[in-house]
Amino acid sequence: MVSPAARPYIDASVPVLREHGVTITTTFYRTMFAAHPELCNLFNMGNQASGVQQQSLAAAVFAYAANIDNAAALAPVIERIVHKHVSIGIKPSHYPIVGHYLLGAIAQTLGDAATPALLAAWDEAYTELADLFIAAEQAMYGRAGITPGQLRAMRVIQVERQSADVNSYTLQAMDALPAFTFKPGQYISVTVDFGNGRSQIRQYSLSDAPNAGSLRISVKREAAGDETPQGEVSNWLHQHVTAGSSLQVSPPMGEFTPDTESADPIVLLSAGVGITPMIAALNRIAQVQPERRTIFAHAAMDEQHHSHLADLRAAAAVMPNLHILNFYQSASANALQDKNNQAGLMDVAKLPAWSRTETKVHLCGPTGFMKAQWRALLDAGVPVSCLYREVFGPDLLDSLAA
Ligand SMILES: Cc1cc2nc3c(=O)[nH]c(=O)nc-3n(C[C@H](O)[C@H](O)[C@H](O)COP(=O)(O)OP(=O)(O)OC[C@H]3O[C@@H](n4cnc5c(N)ncnc54)[C@H](O)[C@@H]3O)c2cc1C
Ligand code: HEM
Repeated sequence: MVSPAARPYIDASVPVLREHGVTITTTFYRTMFAAHPELCNLFNMGNQASGVQQQSLAAAVFAYAANIDNAAALAPVIERIVHKHVSIGIKPSHYPIVGHYLLGAIAQTLGDAATPALLAAWDEAYTELADLFIAAEQAMYGRAGITPGQLRAMRVIQVERQSADVNSYTLQAMDALPAFTFKPGQYISVTVDFGNGRSQIRQYSLSDAPNAGSLRISVKREAAGDETPQGEVSNWLHQHVTAGSSLQVSPPMGEFTPDTESADPIVLLSAGVGITPMIAALNRIAQVQPERRTIFAHAAMDEQHHSHLADLRAAAAVMPNLHILNFYQSASANALQDKNNQAGLMDVAKLPAWSRTETKVHLCGPTGFMKAQWRALLDAGVPVSCLYREVFGPDLLDSLAA
């Protein structure tokens, strides 16, 4: 609870800080990375360069500090961040560093308006938020049985081409420790060491059901655009990793975990490489609840870009109540021979009917897809309490930041 003395300063300054959000976060990262270059290895420098990250950490501090007394609103977003932080290896000792440069950026941007009383109020709010994260993260490190930042070397035992730009990698532990356990929907962080002290960490959803000893991830090679460079880690993985390579990974983390164990109907909607957590869920359902009514709809550019077709075929063979629908932006005449395939973008109205108010609907895909489907599902009468999403980047957490 922020003290009564600090509260008015926080409330009054949140709108101002949001207005100057980009300037504050840009100053924050620039000054922090200049003083602590080692932190560049923890942050996704692709997101930094493209500006995505600018909207994330610092903006979240403002949004959450403003809601610090509203535990119910904070809990779900904090859970997502705690999983992410733990998979990256954030340590308690990192918090004062972030706090120092964040307050410095506020002071620098607001100038004379940053009075000692206002800065003291933000120091108090940040410290409270940091303590909350530190405690939750320490508990999660304990449950995972690791120290912050501890990685595990895994051997790549198989590389498979899943579609035109997606490879899957099956990994097996190289030590005698117990195998990782996980829930479908969770991800691991992969750390790639580029040499000269430079490394980068990326998250990859596990793309198969839990099974004794091995983990599978499926990675889309992010090609260069007209004005954007190619993705650093995904291209490195596609170029350098073969059967026999080893990768440094975190334990599985993530709070997006579709309930695969119950017999209730379930809807799994994805686009592009967003299919990965859905395949993990589907493969698990095929093992434990093959009779379950499951709607699995996927949007891809075309058949060549549709990953995990073999998994879909295998699930269809054992799941009599599985409904598969594929939406291809450019569908060949051949593809349209199959009654499961449709031309165009995913259209909720074309999916088989389900109980709008009871069935859980899960979404994963690029931002445009997520926004369009989220809106379409709400318009179709699905309550927000039945909607679950995984975002392959910083989630903008609009419910709190609005
Ligand atoms: C929970 C979670 C699960 C995920 N699961 C999967 C998965 O299963 N499969 C999968 O393939 N991915 C997954 N991702 C995404 C993955 O973590 C990476 O973000 C992805 O592989 C791209 O990383 P990269 O290093 O190749 O690209 P980056 O180098 O990080 O680049 C990302 C984007 O930023 C752009 N960019 C980079 N530098 C600049 C610049 N200077 N100016 C402008 N733009 C720039 C690039 O062009 C690219 O479009 C997941 C992410 C999360 C958070
Ligand atoms: C109270 C303080 C903090 C808040 C509110 C916060 C908030 C966030 C948020 C919202 C995200 C994005 C999560 C997502 O949706 O994926 C994130 C990710 C991240 N945070 Fe924090 N964070 C805090 C402290 C820290 C600290 C101390 C560090 C360590 C230096 C840190 C490092 C990171 C990193 C590396 C990521 C992943 C983003 C990327 O890949 O670039 N955070 N944090």
